[in-house]
Amino acid sequence: MKLVVKIVLVIVVVVVLLTCASTSVSSDDRLLVNMTVVHGAAATGAYCLDGSLPAYHIHRGSGAGERNWLLQFEGGGWCNDIESCAERARSRRGSTRLMNKLESFSGILSNNASHNPDFYNWNRVKLRYCDGGSFAGNSTFDNGTLVLYFRGQRIFEAIIEDLLPKGLSHANKALLSGCSAGGLASYLHCNRFSKYLPNTTSVKCLGDAGFFLDSPDITMNHTQRTFFQHLVALQGIEPNLDENCTSSISDPKQCIFPQYLLKYIAPPVFILNSAYDVYQFHHILVPPSADPHGHWNRCKVNPQACSPDQMALLQAFRVEMLQVVRSFMYNSTRGGIFINSCFAHCQSESQDTWFASDSPRMFNETIAESIGDWYFGRNVSKKIDRPYPYDTTCHNIIGPASTNDNL
Ligand SMILES: *[C@@H]1O[C@H](CO)[C@@H](O)[C@H](O)[C@H]1NC(C)=O
Ligand SMILES: *[C@@H]1O[C@H](CO)[C@@H](O)[C@H](O)[C@H]1NC(C)=O
Ligand SMILES: *[C@@H]1O[C@H](CO)[C@@H](O)[C@H](O)[C@H]1NC(C)=O
Ligand SMILES: *[C@@H]1O[C@H](CO)[C@@H](O)[C@H](O)[C@H]1NC(C)=O
Ligand SMILES: *[C@@H]1O[C@H](CO)[C@@H](O)[C@H](O)[C@H]1NC(C)=O
Ligand SMILES: *[C@@H]1O[C@H](CO)[C@@H](O)[C@H](O)[C@H]1NC(C)=O
Ligand SMILES: *[C@@H]1O[C@H](CO)[C@@H](O)[C@H](O)[C@H]1NC(C)=O
Ligand SMILES: *[C@@H]1O[C@H](CO)[C@@H](O)[C@H](O)[C@H]1NC(C)=O
Ligand SMILES: *[C@@H]1O[C@H](CO)[C@@H](O)[C@H](O)[C@H]1NC(C)=O
Ligand SMILES: *[C@@H]1O[C@H](CO)[C@@H](O)[C@H](O)[C@H]1NC(C)=O
Repeated sequence: MKLVVKIVLVIVVVVVLLTCASTSVSSDDRLLVNMTVVHGAAATGAYCLDGSLPAYHIHRGSGAGERNWLLQFEGGGWCNDIESCAERARSRRGSTRLMNKLESFSGILSNNASHNPDFYNWNRVKLRYCDGGSFAGNSTFDNGTLVLYFRGQRIFEAIIEDLLPKGLSHANKALLSGCSAGGLASYLHCNRFSKYLPNTTSVKCLGDAGFFLDSPDITMNHTQRTFFQHLVALQGIEPNLDENCTSSISDPKQCIFPQYLLKYIAPPVFILNSAYDVYQFHHILVPPSADPHGHWNRCKVNPQACSPDQMALLQAFRVEMLQVVRSFMYNSTRGGIFINSCFAHCQSESQDTWFASDSPRMFNETIAESIGDWYFGRNVSKKIDRPYPYDTTCHNIIGPASTNDNL
């Protein structure tokens, strides 16, 4: 139990710091968007961990994008036991009361055509993350002195219900998106989201850095599987997992992993992920519990410091991810893929990785262009990078050029 708590703490800290790094894009023409609290959520008990009301930020579309909608789930790790959830409830990750009320919209949320060529004039909504369970839980903890609300599923539904009369109900085009725990939410909610919209709406879903693999760590311990099983059990997520998936797998909880869920998602899906996603490297492949003596500490902050054995394990992890993704690539005519070989985590929200002159590219296309090609059907959009170290366009969030501060 102690170890689990420690892992959760480390995860929370890393994710918080990662998010700080990704939102600190310095730009003078930053778009700051006010928070909208969903007052109607109280009627359905759609509360944040601490009992506060859920919220989103909306920037209206205009012109040709007036009737198109982009919904972006905020990310930020998970809490999977009472202690870590109680702690989260007292932080900005579990309470809209403690959140910043003005959110910076950049990358895929930018309103500037030269920073976001395809979605800049859409209605763009950021759904704040305050449930600790990828918007999928539905239970409560109450022992008389402590109450915790695990109501992510109700929050998702309350926000959609709030947006429908604001124009979402007659959207022409819609894209459900999100990064990290929010990327996972995008996979988990894709089918349900499409059911809210008329069959004339073009609905697609994008998972950024949300393709968490059901892969053992370097000691062959299934750390992530155990972590997710505790999460699903604590937060009451199982009934909200896709029924087609849960009815055809021996352990229904496994359907929280995108790799098992994918074939049951009806709308077209785009997988944006790094093959060496830093979160997965540090928490699935080499969680602290699997490296008690810190043999990986240098390698974790600088891939050039990895030993040949360590690099071989990283390359094997990439191969495993590609195997899962390739079956999707060959089967899906409407799917899209951008798996680059950067030490990154979340590449759609920050301007410098989404669309800038020195952004990551494959076949000379940025992530923004690849996702636009896929969404609008301009071109087949399936790209897989050569392994590390050949990609020279990466914005590694770890590496010799950057300090540990960025993590
Ligand atoms: C945000 O909303 C608050 C309350 O409605 C308002 O006082 C404030 O001026 C708004 N800020 C911006 C930047 O729009
Ligand atoms: C859009 O971005 C470009 C390039 O950074 C900048 O020159 C321009 O002023 C921006 N436009 C708006 C409306 O902010
Ligand atoms: C309720 O749970 C919290 C957290 O586990 C604990 O600190 C507290 O003592 C519990 N209260 C009761 C009455 O069991
Ligand atoms: C949550 O669970 C309650 C029963 O505890 C059920 O009535 C309700 O429909 C569920 N809501 C969602 C959104 O899953
Ligand atoms: C779309 O829905 C309408 C009614 O809501 C129905 O008449 C029509 O057959 C549906 N079209 C398709 C392609 O499912
Ligand atoms: C295996 O993982 C579980 C869950 O994370 C953890 O409690 C346990 O200590 C791990 N065992 C080893 C040997 O790392
Ligand atoms: C792709 O097709 C193969 C063979 O039909 C199947 O075994 C696999 O599950 C499919 N994968 C996905 C992600 O749909
Ligand atoms: C899920 O199951 C329902 C009911 O059996 C079926 O109509 C639907 O096509 C299935 N969806 C997928 C994506 O397999
Ligand atoms: C790559 O794309 C940029 C514009 O996006 C273009 O200026 C450049 O010539 C292209 N390079 C190659 C090698 O095609
Ligand atoms: C479509 O994609 C292919 C492969 O990435 C590329 O060679 C081609 O130039 C693209 N076509 C257009 C019109 O962008």
